[in-house]
Amino acid sequence: MKAIVKECAGIGAVLKDVEMPVLCEGEVLIKIKAAAICGTDQHIYVWNNWAQNNNINLPTILGHECSAEVVELGPGVKNLKVGDYVACDTHIPCGECYQCRNGEQHICQNLKLFGVHTNGCFAEYAKIPAVCAVKIPESIHPNIGAVLEPLGTSVRANVEIQSSGKNIAVIGCGPIGLMAVSAARAFGAANIYAVDINDYRLGIAKELGATEVINSTQCNSAEKMCELTNGVGVDAFIDASGNTFAILDGFKALRKGGKVALIGLPSRPLEIDLGSQVVFKEATIIGIHGRRMFETWTVMSNLLDKGLLNIDPVITHVLKLEDFEKGFDISQQGIGGKVILVP
Ligand SMILES: NC(=O)c1ccc[n+]([C@@H]2O[C@H](COP(=O)([O-])OP(=O)(O)OC[C@H]3O[C@@H](n4cnc5c(N)ncnc54)[C@H](O)[C@@H]3O)[C@@H](O)[C@H]2O)c1
Ligand SMILES: [Zn+2]
Ligand SMILES: [Zn+2]
Repeated sequence: MKAIVKECAGIGAVLKDVEMPVLCEGEVLIKIKAAAICGTDQHIYVWNNWAQNNNINLPTILGHECSAEVVELGPGVKNLKVGDYVACDTHIPCGECYQCRNGEQHICQNLKLFGVHTNGCFAEYAKIPAVCAVKIPESIHPNIGAVLEPLGTSVRANVEIQSSGKNIAVIGCGPIGLMAVSAARAFGAANIYAVDINDYRLGIAKELGATEVINSTQCNSAEKMCELTNGVGVDAFIDASGNTFAILDGFKALRKGGKVALIGLPSRPLEIDLGSQVVFKEATIIGIHGRRMFETWTVMSNLLDKGLLNIDPVITHVLKLEDFEKGFDISQQGIGGKVILVP
C-alpha cells in the first residue's frame, strides 16, 4: 500500500510502497477515506524539539485524523463489523490504569497516540485498536469525518464552559479555535468574540458565526471584550492559541465567576497573578486533552447528523495523498484552515 513515511530525523517525509499492516488481538484494519493534517503531524514532519522528545520511533507512517471503512477484524473484536464507517480517536488507552477504570480513559496514565507512537493514517490502510474506531453516521461526509478528532476537542471545550446563552470568547482561530466558534454557535452561545492576529482566519470565524472578530494586533482585546459586555467581562473563554500573552488577556477579559477552557499548548511557562485573575474572580479553569470517550463523540455525531453544526468553511484544501508536501506547506504557513489528504 501507499503511505507517507517519516524515515529519519530532519525535515520532510516520503511517499512509498509499504507492507500492509498485520492485525493483532483487538485491532481492526481500516481503509482510509480521508485524512487531515494536524499541528502534531507538522511537528513530526519538520522533526522539531517536540518530535525529538516524544518517544517517536522512526521510520513511522504519519497522520492520526481520519475517516475510514472497517475492512478486516483482528482476533477478539466484537464491537465492529466489516463495512462500518468510522472515525478514529487518537488516544489509545491501556484499559487497566486508575483513569481507564474510572471513566477517564482519554487521559489514561499509559496513553499512546495513534500516528505518533504507532503507524498512522496517511496511507491507503491503517490498523487501529477497535476501541479507538468510532462508528459515525453515513450522513457525515468523509472530509468532515476526517476532522472529528480535532472537532471533538473544540466541542468538549464548549460543553465544559456551558456556552449556551453566554457571552464567550474564542482566543486563537486556527482550526481548533474555528471549530470552537462553530460549536459555540451550535450550542447557542449569545455572543462569540473571536480573537486572532490573522485577518484571514478571523474572516472564517465570522463566516462560522462569530458575532465580533477582534484582531489583537490592532486593539487591546481584553478592553474590547469588557466594552462589548458593558464592563462585565466574558462569561467564559476558550484558549486555542497557546499564546501566553493572549491567555493572560483572556483572564483580564473574564468576568467574576467565569469559566476557562484551555486547549492551546504554550511553548513556555505562563506567569499569572492568581490572586486577582483566579482566586478573587472565582474562576473555574479546565484543561482539555482531547475528547471524552465516548460522550463527546456522541454529542458531535448527533449535532452533525441533524445539521446543527457546520464546520464546512474550516476545510480550506482537499488534496490527493501524493500532494502531501503541498499540504504540509499550506499548514506550515498558517494560511489555511484544515488540509485534507485523500488516498
Ligand atoms: N489540548 C488538546 O487536546 C489539543 C489538541 C489539538 C491541538 N492543541 C493545541 O491547540 C492549539 C491550537 O491548535 P491549532 O491546530 O488550531 O493551531 P494553530 O497554530 O493553527 O492556531 C493557533 C492560532 O492562534 C493564533 N494566535 C497566535 N498568537 C495569538 C495571539 N497573541 N492572540 C490571538 N491569537 C493568536 C494564530 O494566529 C493561529 O491562528 C495549539 O497550541 C495546539 O498545540 C491541543
Ligand atoms: Zn490532531
Ligand atoms: Zn489506562
